[in-house]
Amino acid sequence: AYPDQIDGGEALIVGAGLAGLFTALKLATDRRVTVIAAAPLSEGASSAWAQGGVAAAMGEGDSADLHTADTEKVAGGIAAHKIVEILTRTAPDRIADLIELGVPFDRDPSGHLVFGREAAHSRNRIVRVQGDRAGKAIMGALVAAVAKRPSIRVIENMVAMELAVADGRVAGIHAVEAGGTKPVLIRAHATVLATGGIGGLFRVTTNPAVVRGEGLGMAARAGAVVADPEFVQFHPTAIDVGRDPAPLATEALRGEGAILVNERGERFMTAIHPDAELGPRDVVARGIFAELKRGGRVYLDTRQVLGARIETQFPTVAGYCHAAGVDPVKEPIPVAPAEHYHMGGILTDEYGRTSLAGLWAVGEVSSTGAHGANRLASNSLLESIVFGGHVAEDIARDAGETAGRPNAGIAAISSPVDWDAVAAHLPRLRETMTHDVGVVRDAAGLAHALHVIGEIEAATDSLPMLNVLATARLIAAGALARTESRGGHYRSDFPETDTAFAHRTAMTLAEARAL
Ligand code: SIN
Repeated sequence: AYPDQIDGGEALIVGAGLAGLFTALKLATDRRVTVIAAAPLSEGASSAWAQGGVAAAMGEGDSADLHTADTEKVAGGIAAHKIVEILTRTAPDRIADLIELGVPFDRDPSGHLVFGREAAHSRNRIVRVQGDRAGKAIMGALVAAVAKRPSIRVIENMVAMELAVADGRVAGIHAVEAGGTKPVLIRAHATVLATGGIGGLFRVTTNPAVVRGEGLGMAARAGAVVADPEFVQFHPTAIDVGRDPAPLATEALRGEGAILVNERGERFMTAIHPDAELGPRDVVARGIFAELKRGGRVYLDTRQVLGARIETQFPTVAGYCHAAGVDPVKEPIPVAPAEHYHMGGILTDEYGRTSLAGLWAVGEVSSTGAHGANRLASNSLLESIVFGGHVAEDIARDAGETAGRPNAGIAAISSPVDWDAVAAHLPRLRETMTHDVGVVRDAAGLAHALHVIGEIEAATDSLPMLNVLATARLIAAGALARTESRGGHYRSDFPETDTAFAHRTAMTLAEARAL
C-alpha cells in the first residue's frame, strides 16, 4: 500500500521503457528522480521486445546525411528536417552511452561493431545484440544501471491515470496501483510522459498488453496538442499463430534475403515494389494485407537464405516459432501485419517540451516529427535515447523542487477507476480499431469507428477507459480528416497523395470531438 501522496522529487518519469529509463539516468546524476512503471520493470516495455536494433551512421561509407536522407525518404515528405538531423547526428554519441552502460553490441573478430541492414536503409547501419536481442540486452543494461543509482526511485505496478495541474502547470500525476482503485498523488517539479505507444488499442499488435495509448489520452484530456495521430505503422511480419500480442519476425530476416510468399508459394512483392520485400514498411504491409483479404495466407520463407542458421542468428524469432509448433528450418513462417508503432503522439519540440507547462514527452508517446508519416526501421530506440538526452538537459536547466509545496489548487481525480469497465469495453474497441482504423481505411469505416468510440464513452466514466478512448478518437478523427494516402495512413477512397496535405497534423481532443 502507498500513502495518498508521494513526493516525486525534481522529475517524475511515467514509463520505464528505453525513453523513460535513459532520461532518468541522464537526469539523475545529481537530481532526485522518480520513475513509475505500470508493470514490473522486466515486463511492460515495448523496448525490451525490439528485435532489430538501433540505427546509427557509424560504418565505413556511411554518414549522418545519408541516414537523414533515408529517414526522410520513407517519411512521406512531412518529417521535420531539423529534428531528423538532430536524430542522425547525435546517434553515435548516444550509442557510445549505451556501450558505456554495458550493452554488448555485436562485434567482428577484431572488435569492431557489426552493422546490419534493414528495409529502406541505403547502408548497413543497425547495431544489434546477438542478432535479434537488442531490446532485451539494452533494457537489461539500463535496468541494472538504474538499480545502482540511489537518486532514482522506481515504483513498479503504479499506473498513471490523470495529470495533476496547479496554477496552469502540470505538477505531477494521479496514479493507482495496478488493478487498484485508490488514487495516489505523485508531485514533481517536472513531469515526463514516456508511456510508449498504442498497440493495445488494436486487436493485432506487437506491443505488450499494457501499452495502449493511455499516456497520450491523459495528456490530450488535459488539453495538450497532439500531432499526426493518424500515422500508425503496421509491421508487415508479425508471426500469425493466434497469439496476443503477436510475436514479431524482425525485418532483419528480410534484410538477410528472406522472401514473402502466398499459399501457392508465389513471391508477390516483386510485382508491387522494385525493392520487393525490402520496400517501405507500409507498402509491404499493404501487399500482405491484400493477399490475406483475398482469403489466402502469407508466409515468410527463411529456409533458402538462412536454413538452420536462423536458430543461432535469430534465436528470438526461432524460439517464438518453435513455441507455436512451426519449425522455421523446415517450413515457412505464417505472418500478418500488426500494429507496431505510432508516429503520432503528443506534440513536442526538440527538447521534448509539450504545449503544457511542466510536461515533457519522450519516446513513442511523443511526436517530434522525426518519423513523419512513416518510421524507418530501428529509428525508434534511437529517438528514445537522442531525445531522452535532450529532455534531461532541458529539465536540468529548469530545475526546481516540489518538496513542501502546498497542494492547493490541484483538483482531485476527475473520474473513478473501474477496471471491470476496461475488461468490458476494450475488446470491442480493439476489434473496431483493427477493422476500421487499420492498414486500409475509408470514410465509412472511420465514421463507424467514431460512432463506436462515442457509444463506449457514453457507457463508462472509468478513467483508464476514457484515456484509451481519447487516443482512439484522435487517431480515427485524424484519419478521417486526412483525405489522402501518405506513409502509414492509407485511404482506399483517397489512394493518392495530395499536396494539399503535405504537412503534419496538430489537433486537440476538443478539435477531434468537433470533427
Ligand atoms: C524489426 O525488427 O523488424 C522492428 C524494427 C523496428 O521496428 O524498427
